[in-house]
Amino acid sequence: MRVVVTRRIPSRGIELLRDAGFDVAVWPGELPPTREELIAFARGADGLLTLLTERIDGSLLDALPTVKVVSNMAVGYDNIDVDACTARGVVVCITPDVLTETTADFTWALIFAVARRVCEAVDNVRRGAWRTWEPLGFLGKDVHSATLGIIGFGRIGQAVARRATGFAQRVLYTDRNPVAPERERELNATFVPPDELLQRSDIVTLHVPLTPETRHLIGARELALFKPSAILINTARGPVVDTEALVDALRVGRLWGVGLDVTDPEPLPADHPLLQFPNVVVTPHIASASEVTRQRMAELAAQNLISALHGECPPRSLNWDAVRGRTV
Ligand code: DGY
Repeated sequence: MRVVVTRRIPSRGIELLRDAGFDVAVWPGELPPTREELIAFARGADGLLTLLTERIDGSLLDALPTVKVVSNMAVGYDNIDVDACTARGVVVCITPDVLTETTADFTWALIFAVARRVCEAVDNVRRGAWRTWEPLGFLGKDVHSATLGIIGFGRIGQAVARRATGFAQRVLYTDRNPVAPERERELNATFVPPDELLQRSDIVTLHVPLTPETRHLIGARELALFKPSAILINTARGPVVDTEALVDALRVGRLWGVGLDVTDPEPLPADHPLLQFPNVVVTPHIASASEVTRQRMAELAAQNLISALHGECPPRSLNWDAVRGRTV
């Protein structure tokens, strides 16, 4: 069987695929293949190991009718039309859990970078502008004792909350439903409606998947509810925030600071207005980028692909039952 990996990934993933006896073709480019390149490269493949940069939809699958499995090396799958896959009997797999803690760590890295103005201060030193100790220099916001508002209280949101206890924070969260009362007690977290969370939080952090319902979840109306002293952090997906509304809010000083690991558009062009604000920290979608976690993601993506192509239930599939139900 032939499998195509749409970019170079950590070695363990490729080794697993080769050890399973597959003929493995890895897209050699540093940038993702264009759609046409992917179709040409993956012609005749049985399975694809994809990244969040590939759009997998009905027309792509129709152009690659031999593909039976799409294994995405990511927990998010807004790049995949799962219904189109299921309709064509294509199994879709993702890599949850293995990146939860690493992504939560990075959320905290952004919280500190913004609240304590780390990037501005580092730039200052690099520019040779550090002249003396300044009583009024780089005054930031305290992270300890702040109210942290978490929007989306799934695995990553809860991992972020767990870290908050070490900083004596009050944790507010919102989601479709509250978690079990024992879990709330354990995480010292209080369920509140979204608007109340925005009005009360010093730091708001987003942990929802990108769906039609969450696109522009944070728009002009929501940004107007933030405290002017608040910080917004997004490590989820760029389009969860309405970028234009965010730029407008920053222009009129509606927010104290913003940390974005994901943007819309992504990548963000170097001349984008968001990059003009000193109180905005943007990183290039690296929240899961630790050595160990990326190896684990590659391994799980490979295991998913191997199991599904061998006709066994993959460790983490979104539609295995639906596809099997359709094919038996
Ligand atoms: C994901 O997995 O969805 C992240 O955005 C990349 O790790």
